Amino acid sequence: MINPTEYPSDAIHSEAHRWRVRRTLGPTAMGSLAVAILLYFSGEAGGADPQLSKAELMAQGKEIYNETCAGCHQASGMGLPGIYPPLVAGVAFEAAPFLTQPLEERGFWKNGKIQLGSVENHIEAVLNGIPNSRMFPFSGQLDNAEIAAVVTYERNAWGNDSGDVVQPEQVKSAR
Ligand code: HEC
Repeated sequence: MINPTEYPSDAIHSEAHRWRVRRTLGPTAMGSLAVAILLYFSGEAGGADPQLSKAELMAQGKEIYNETCAGCHQASGMGLPGIYPPLVAGVAFEAAPFLTQPLEERGFWKNGKIQLGSVENHIEAVLNGIPNSRMFPFSGQLDNAEIAAVVTYERNAWGNDSGDVVQPEQVKSAR
């Protein structure tokens, strides 16, 4: 048997009030709390040089490539015959020796598939450019994470399927 005196109306009211407050603030407050917890833990986990996922590198790399590199190598990665080498496709790059020789000397130019060359040479070409060519150094323009992203992109886009994932740390030590 419930004795009404054990449930004074103000207690019932305040309980109902708390419930209403919780329902009103609920989703937003809980959302903010979740974000705060996530930020806290990602801050804890992240060292000086965070490891980026392949998906993150590919997404950022695509943006950088299209803004910075596609003017010459084309958005398709196919380059322009005789002027800008393709980074994809496995077709010979028909161009004057002054263009093809530096690539061959690096042991890097292999039928247009950039992924067949080493990651180290790839990073080096983007950081320092290729002397006496229109492939300029990008070390001043792009930071380590951006170069890691664009190299990862080139090695995995357009059917290049090296699976290589380049981290900012690798670019840092190549500088
Ligand atoms: C102004 C035009 C131009 C732009 C912009 C440019 N490149 Fe190049 N790139 C070249 C040329 C020309 C070569 C070939 C140079 C040579 O060997 O004489 C080249 C070569 C390369 C190579 C070596 C290719 C191979 O098969 O060995 C890589 C890798 C490369 N570029 C990546 C990039 C990336 C990444 C970007 C953007 C951050 C970029 N390039 C922007 C003109 C350009």
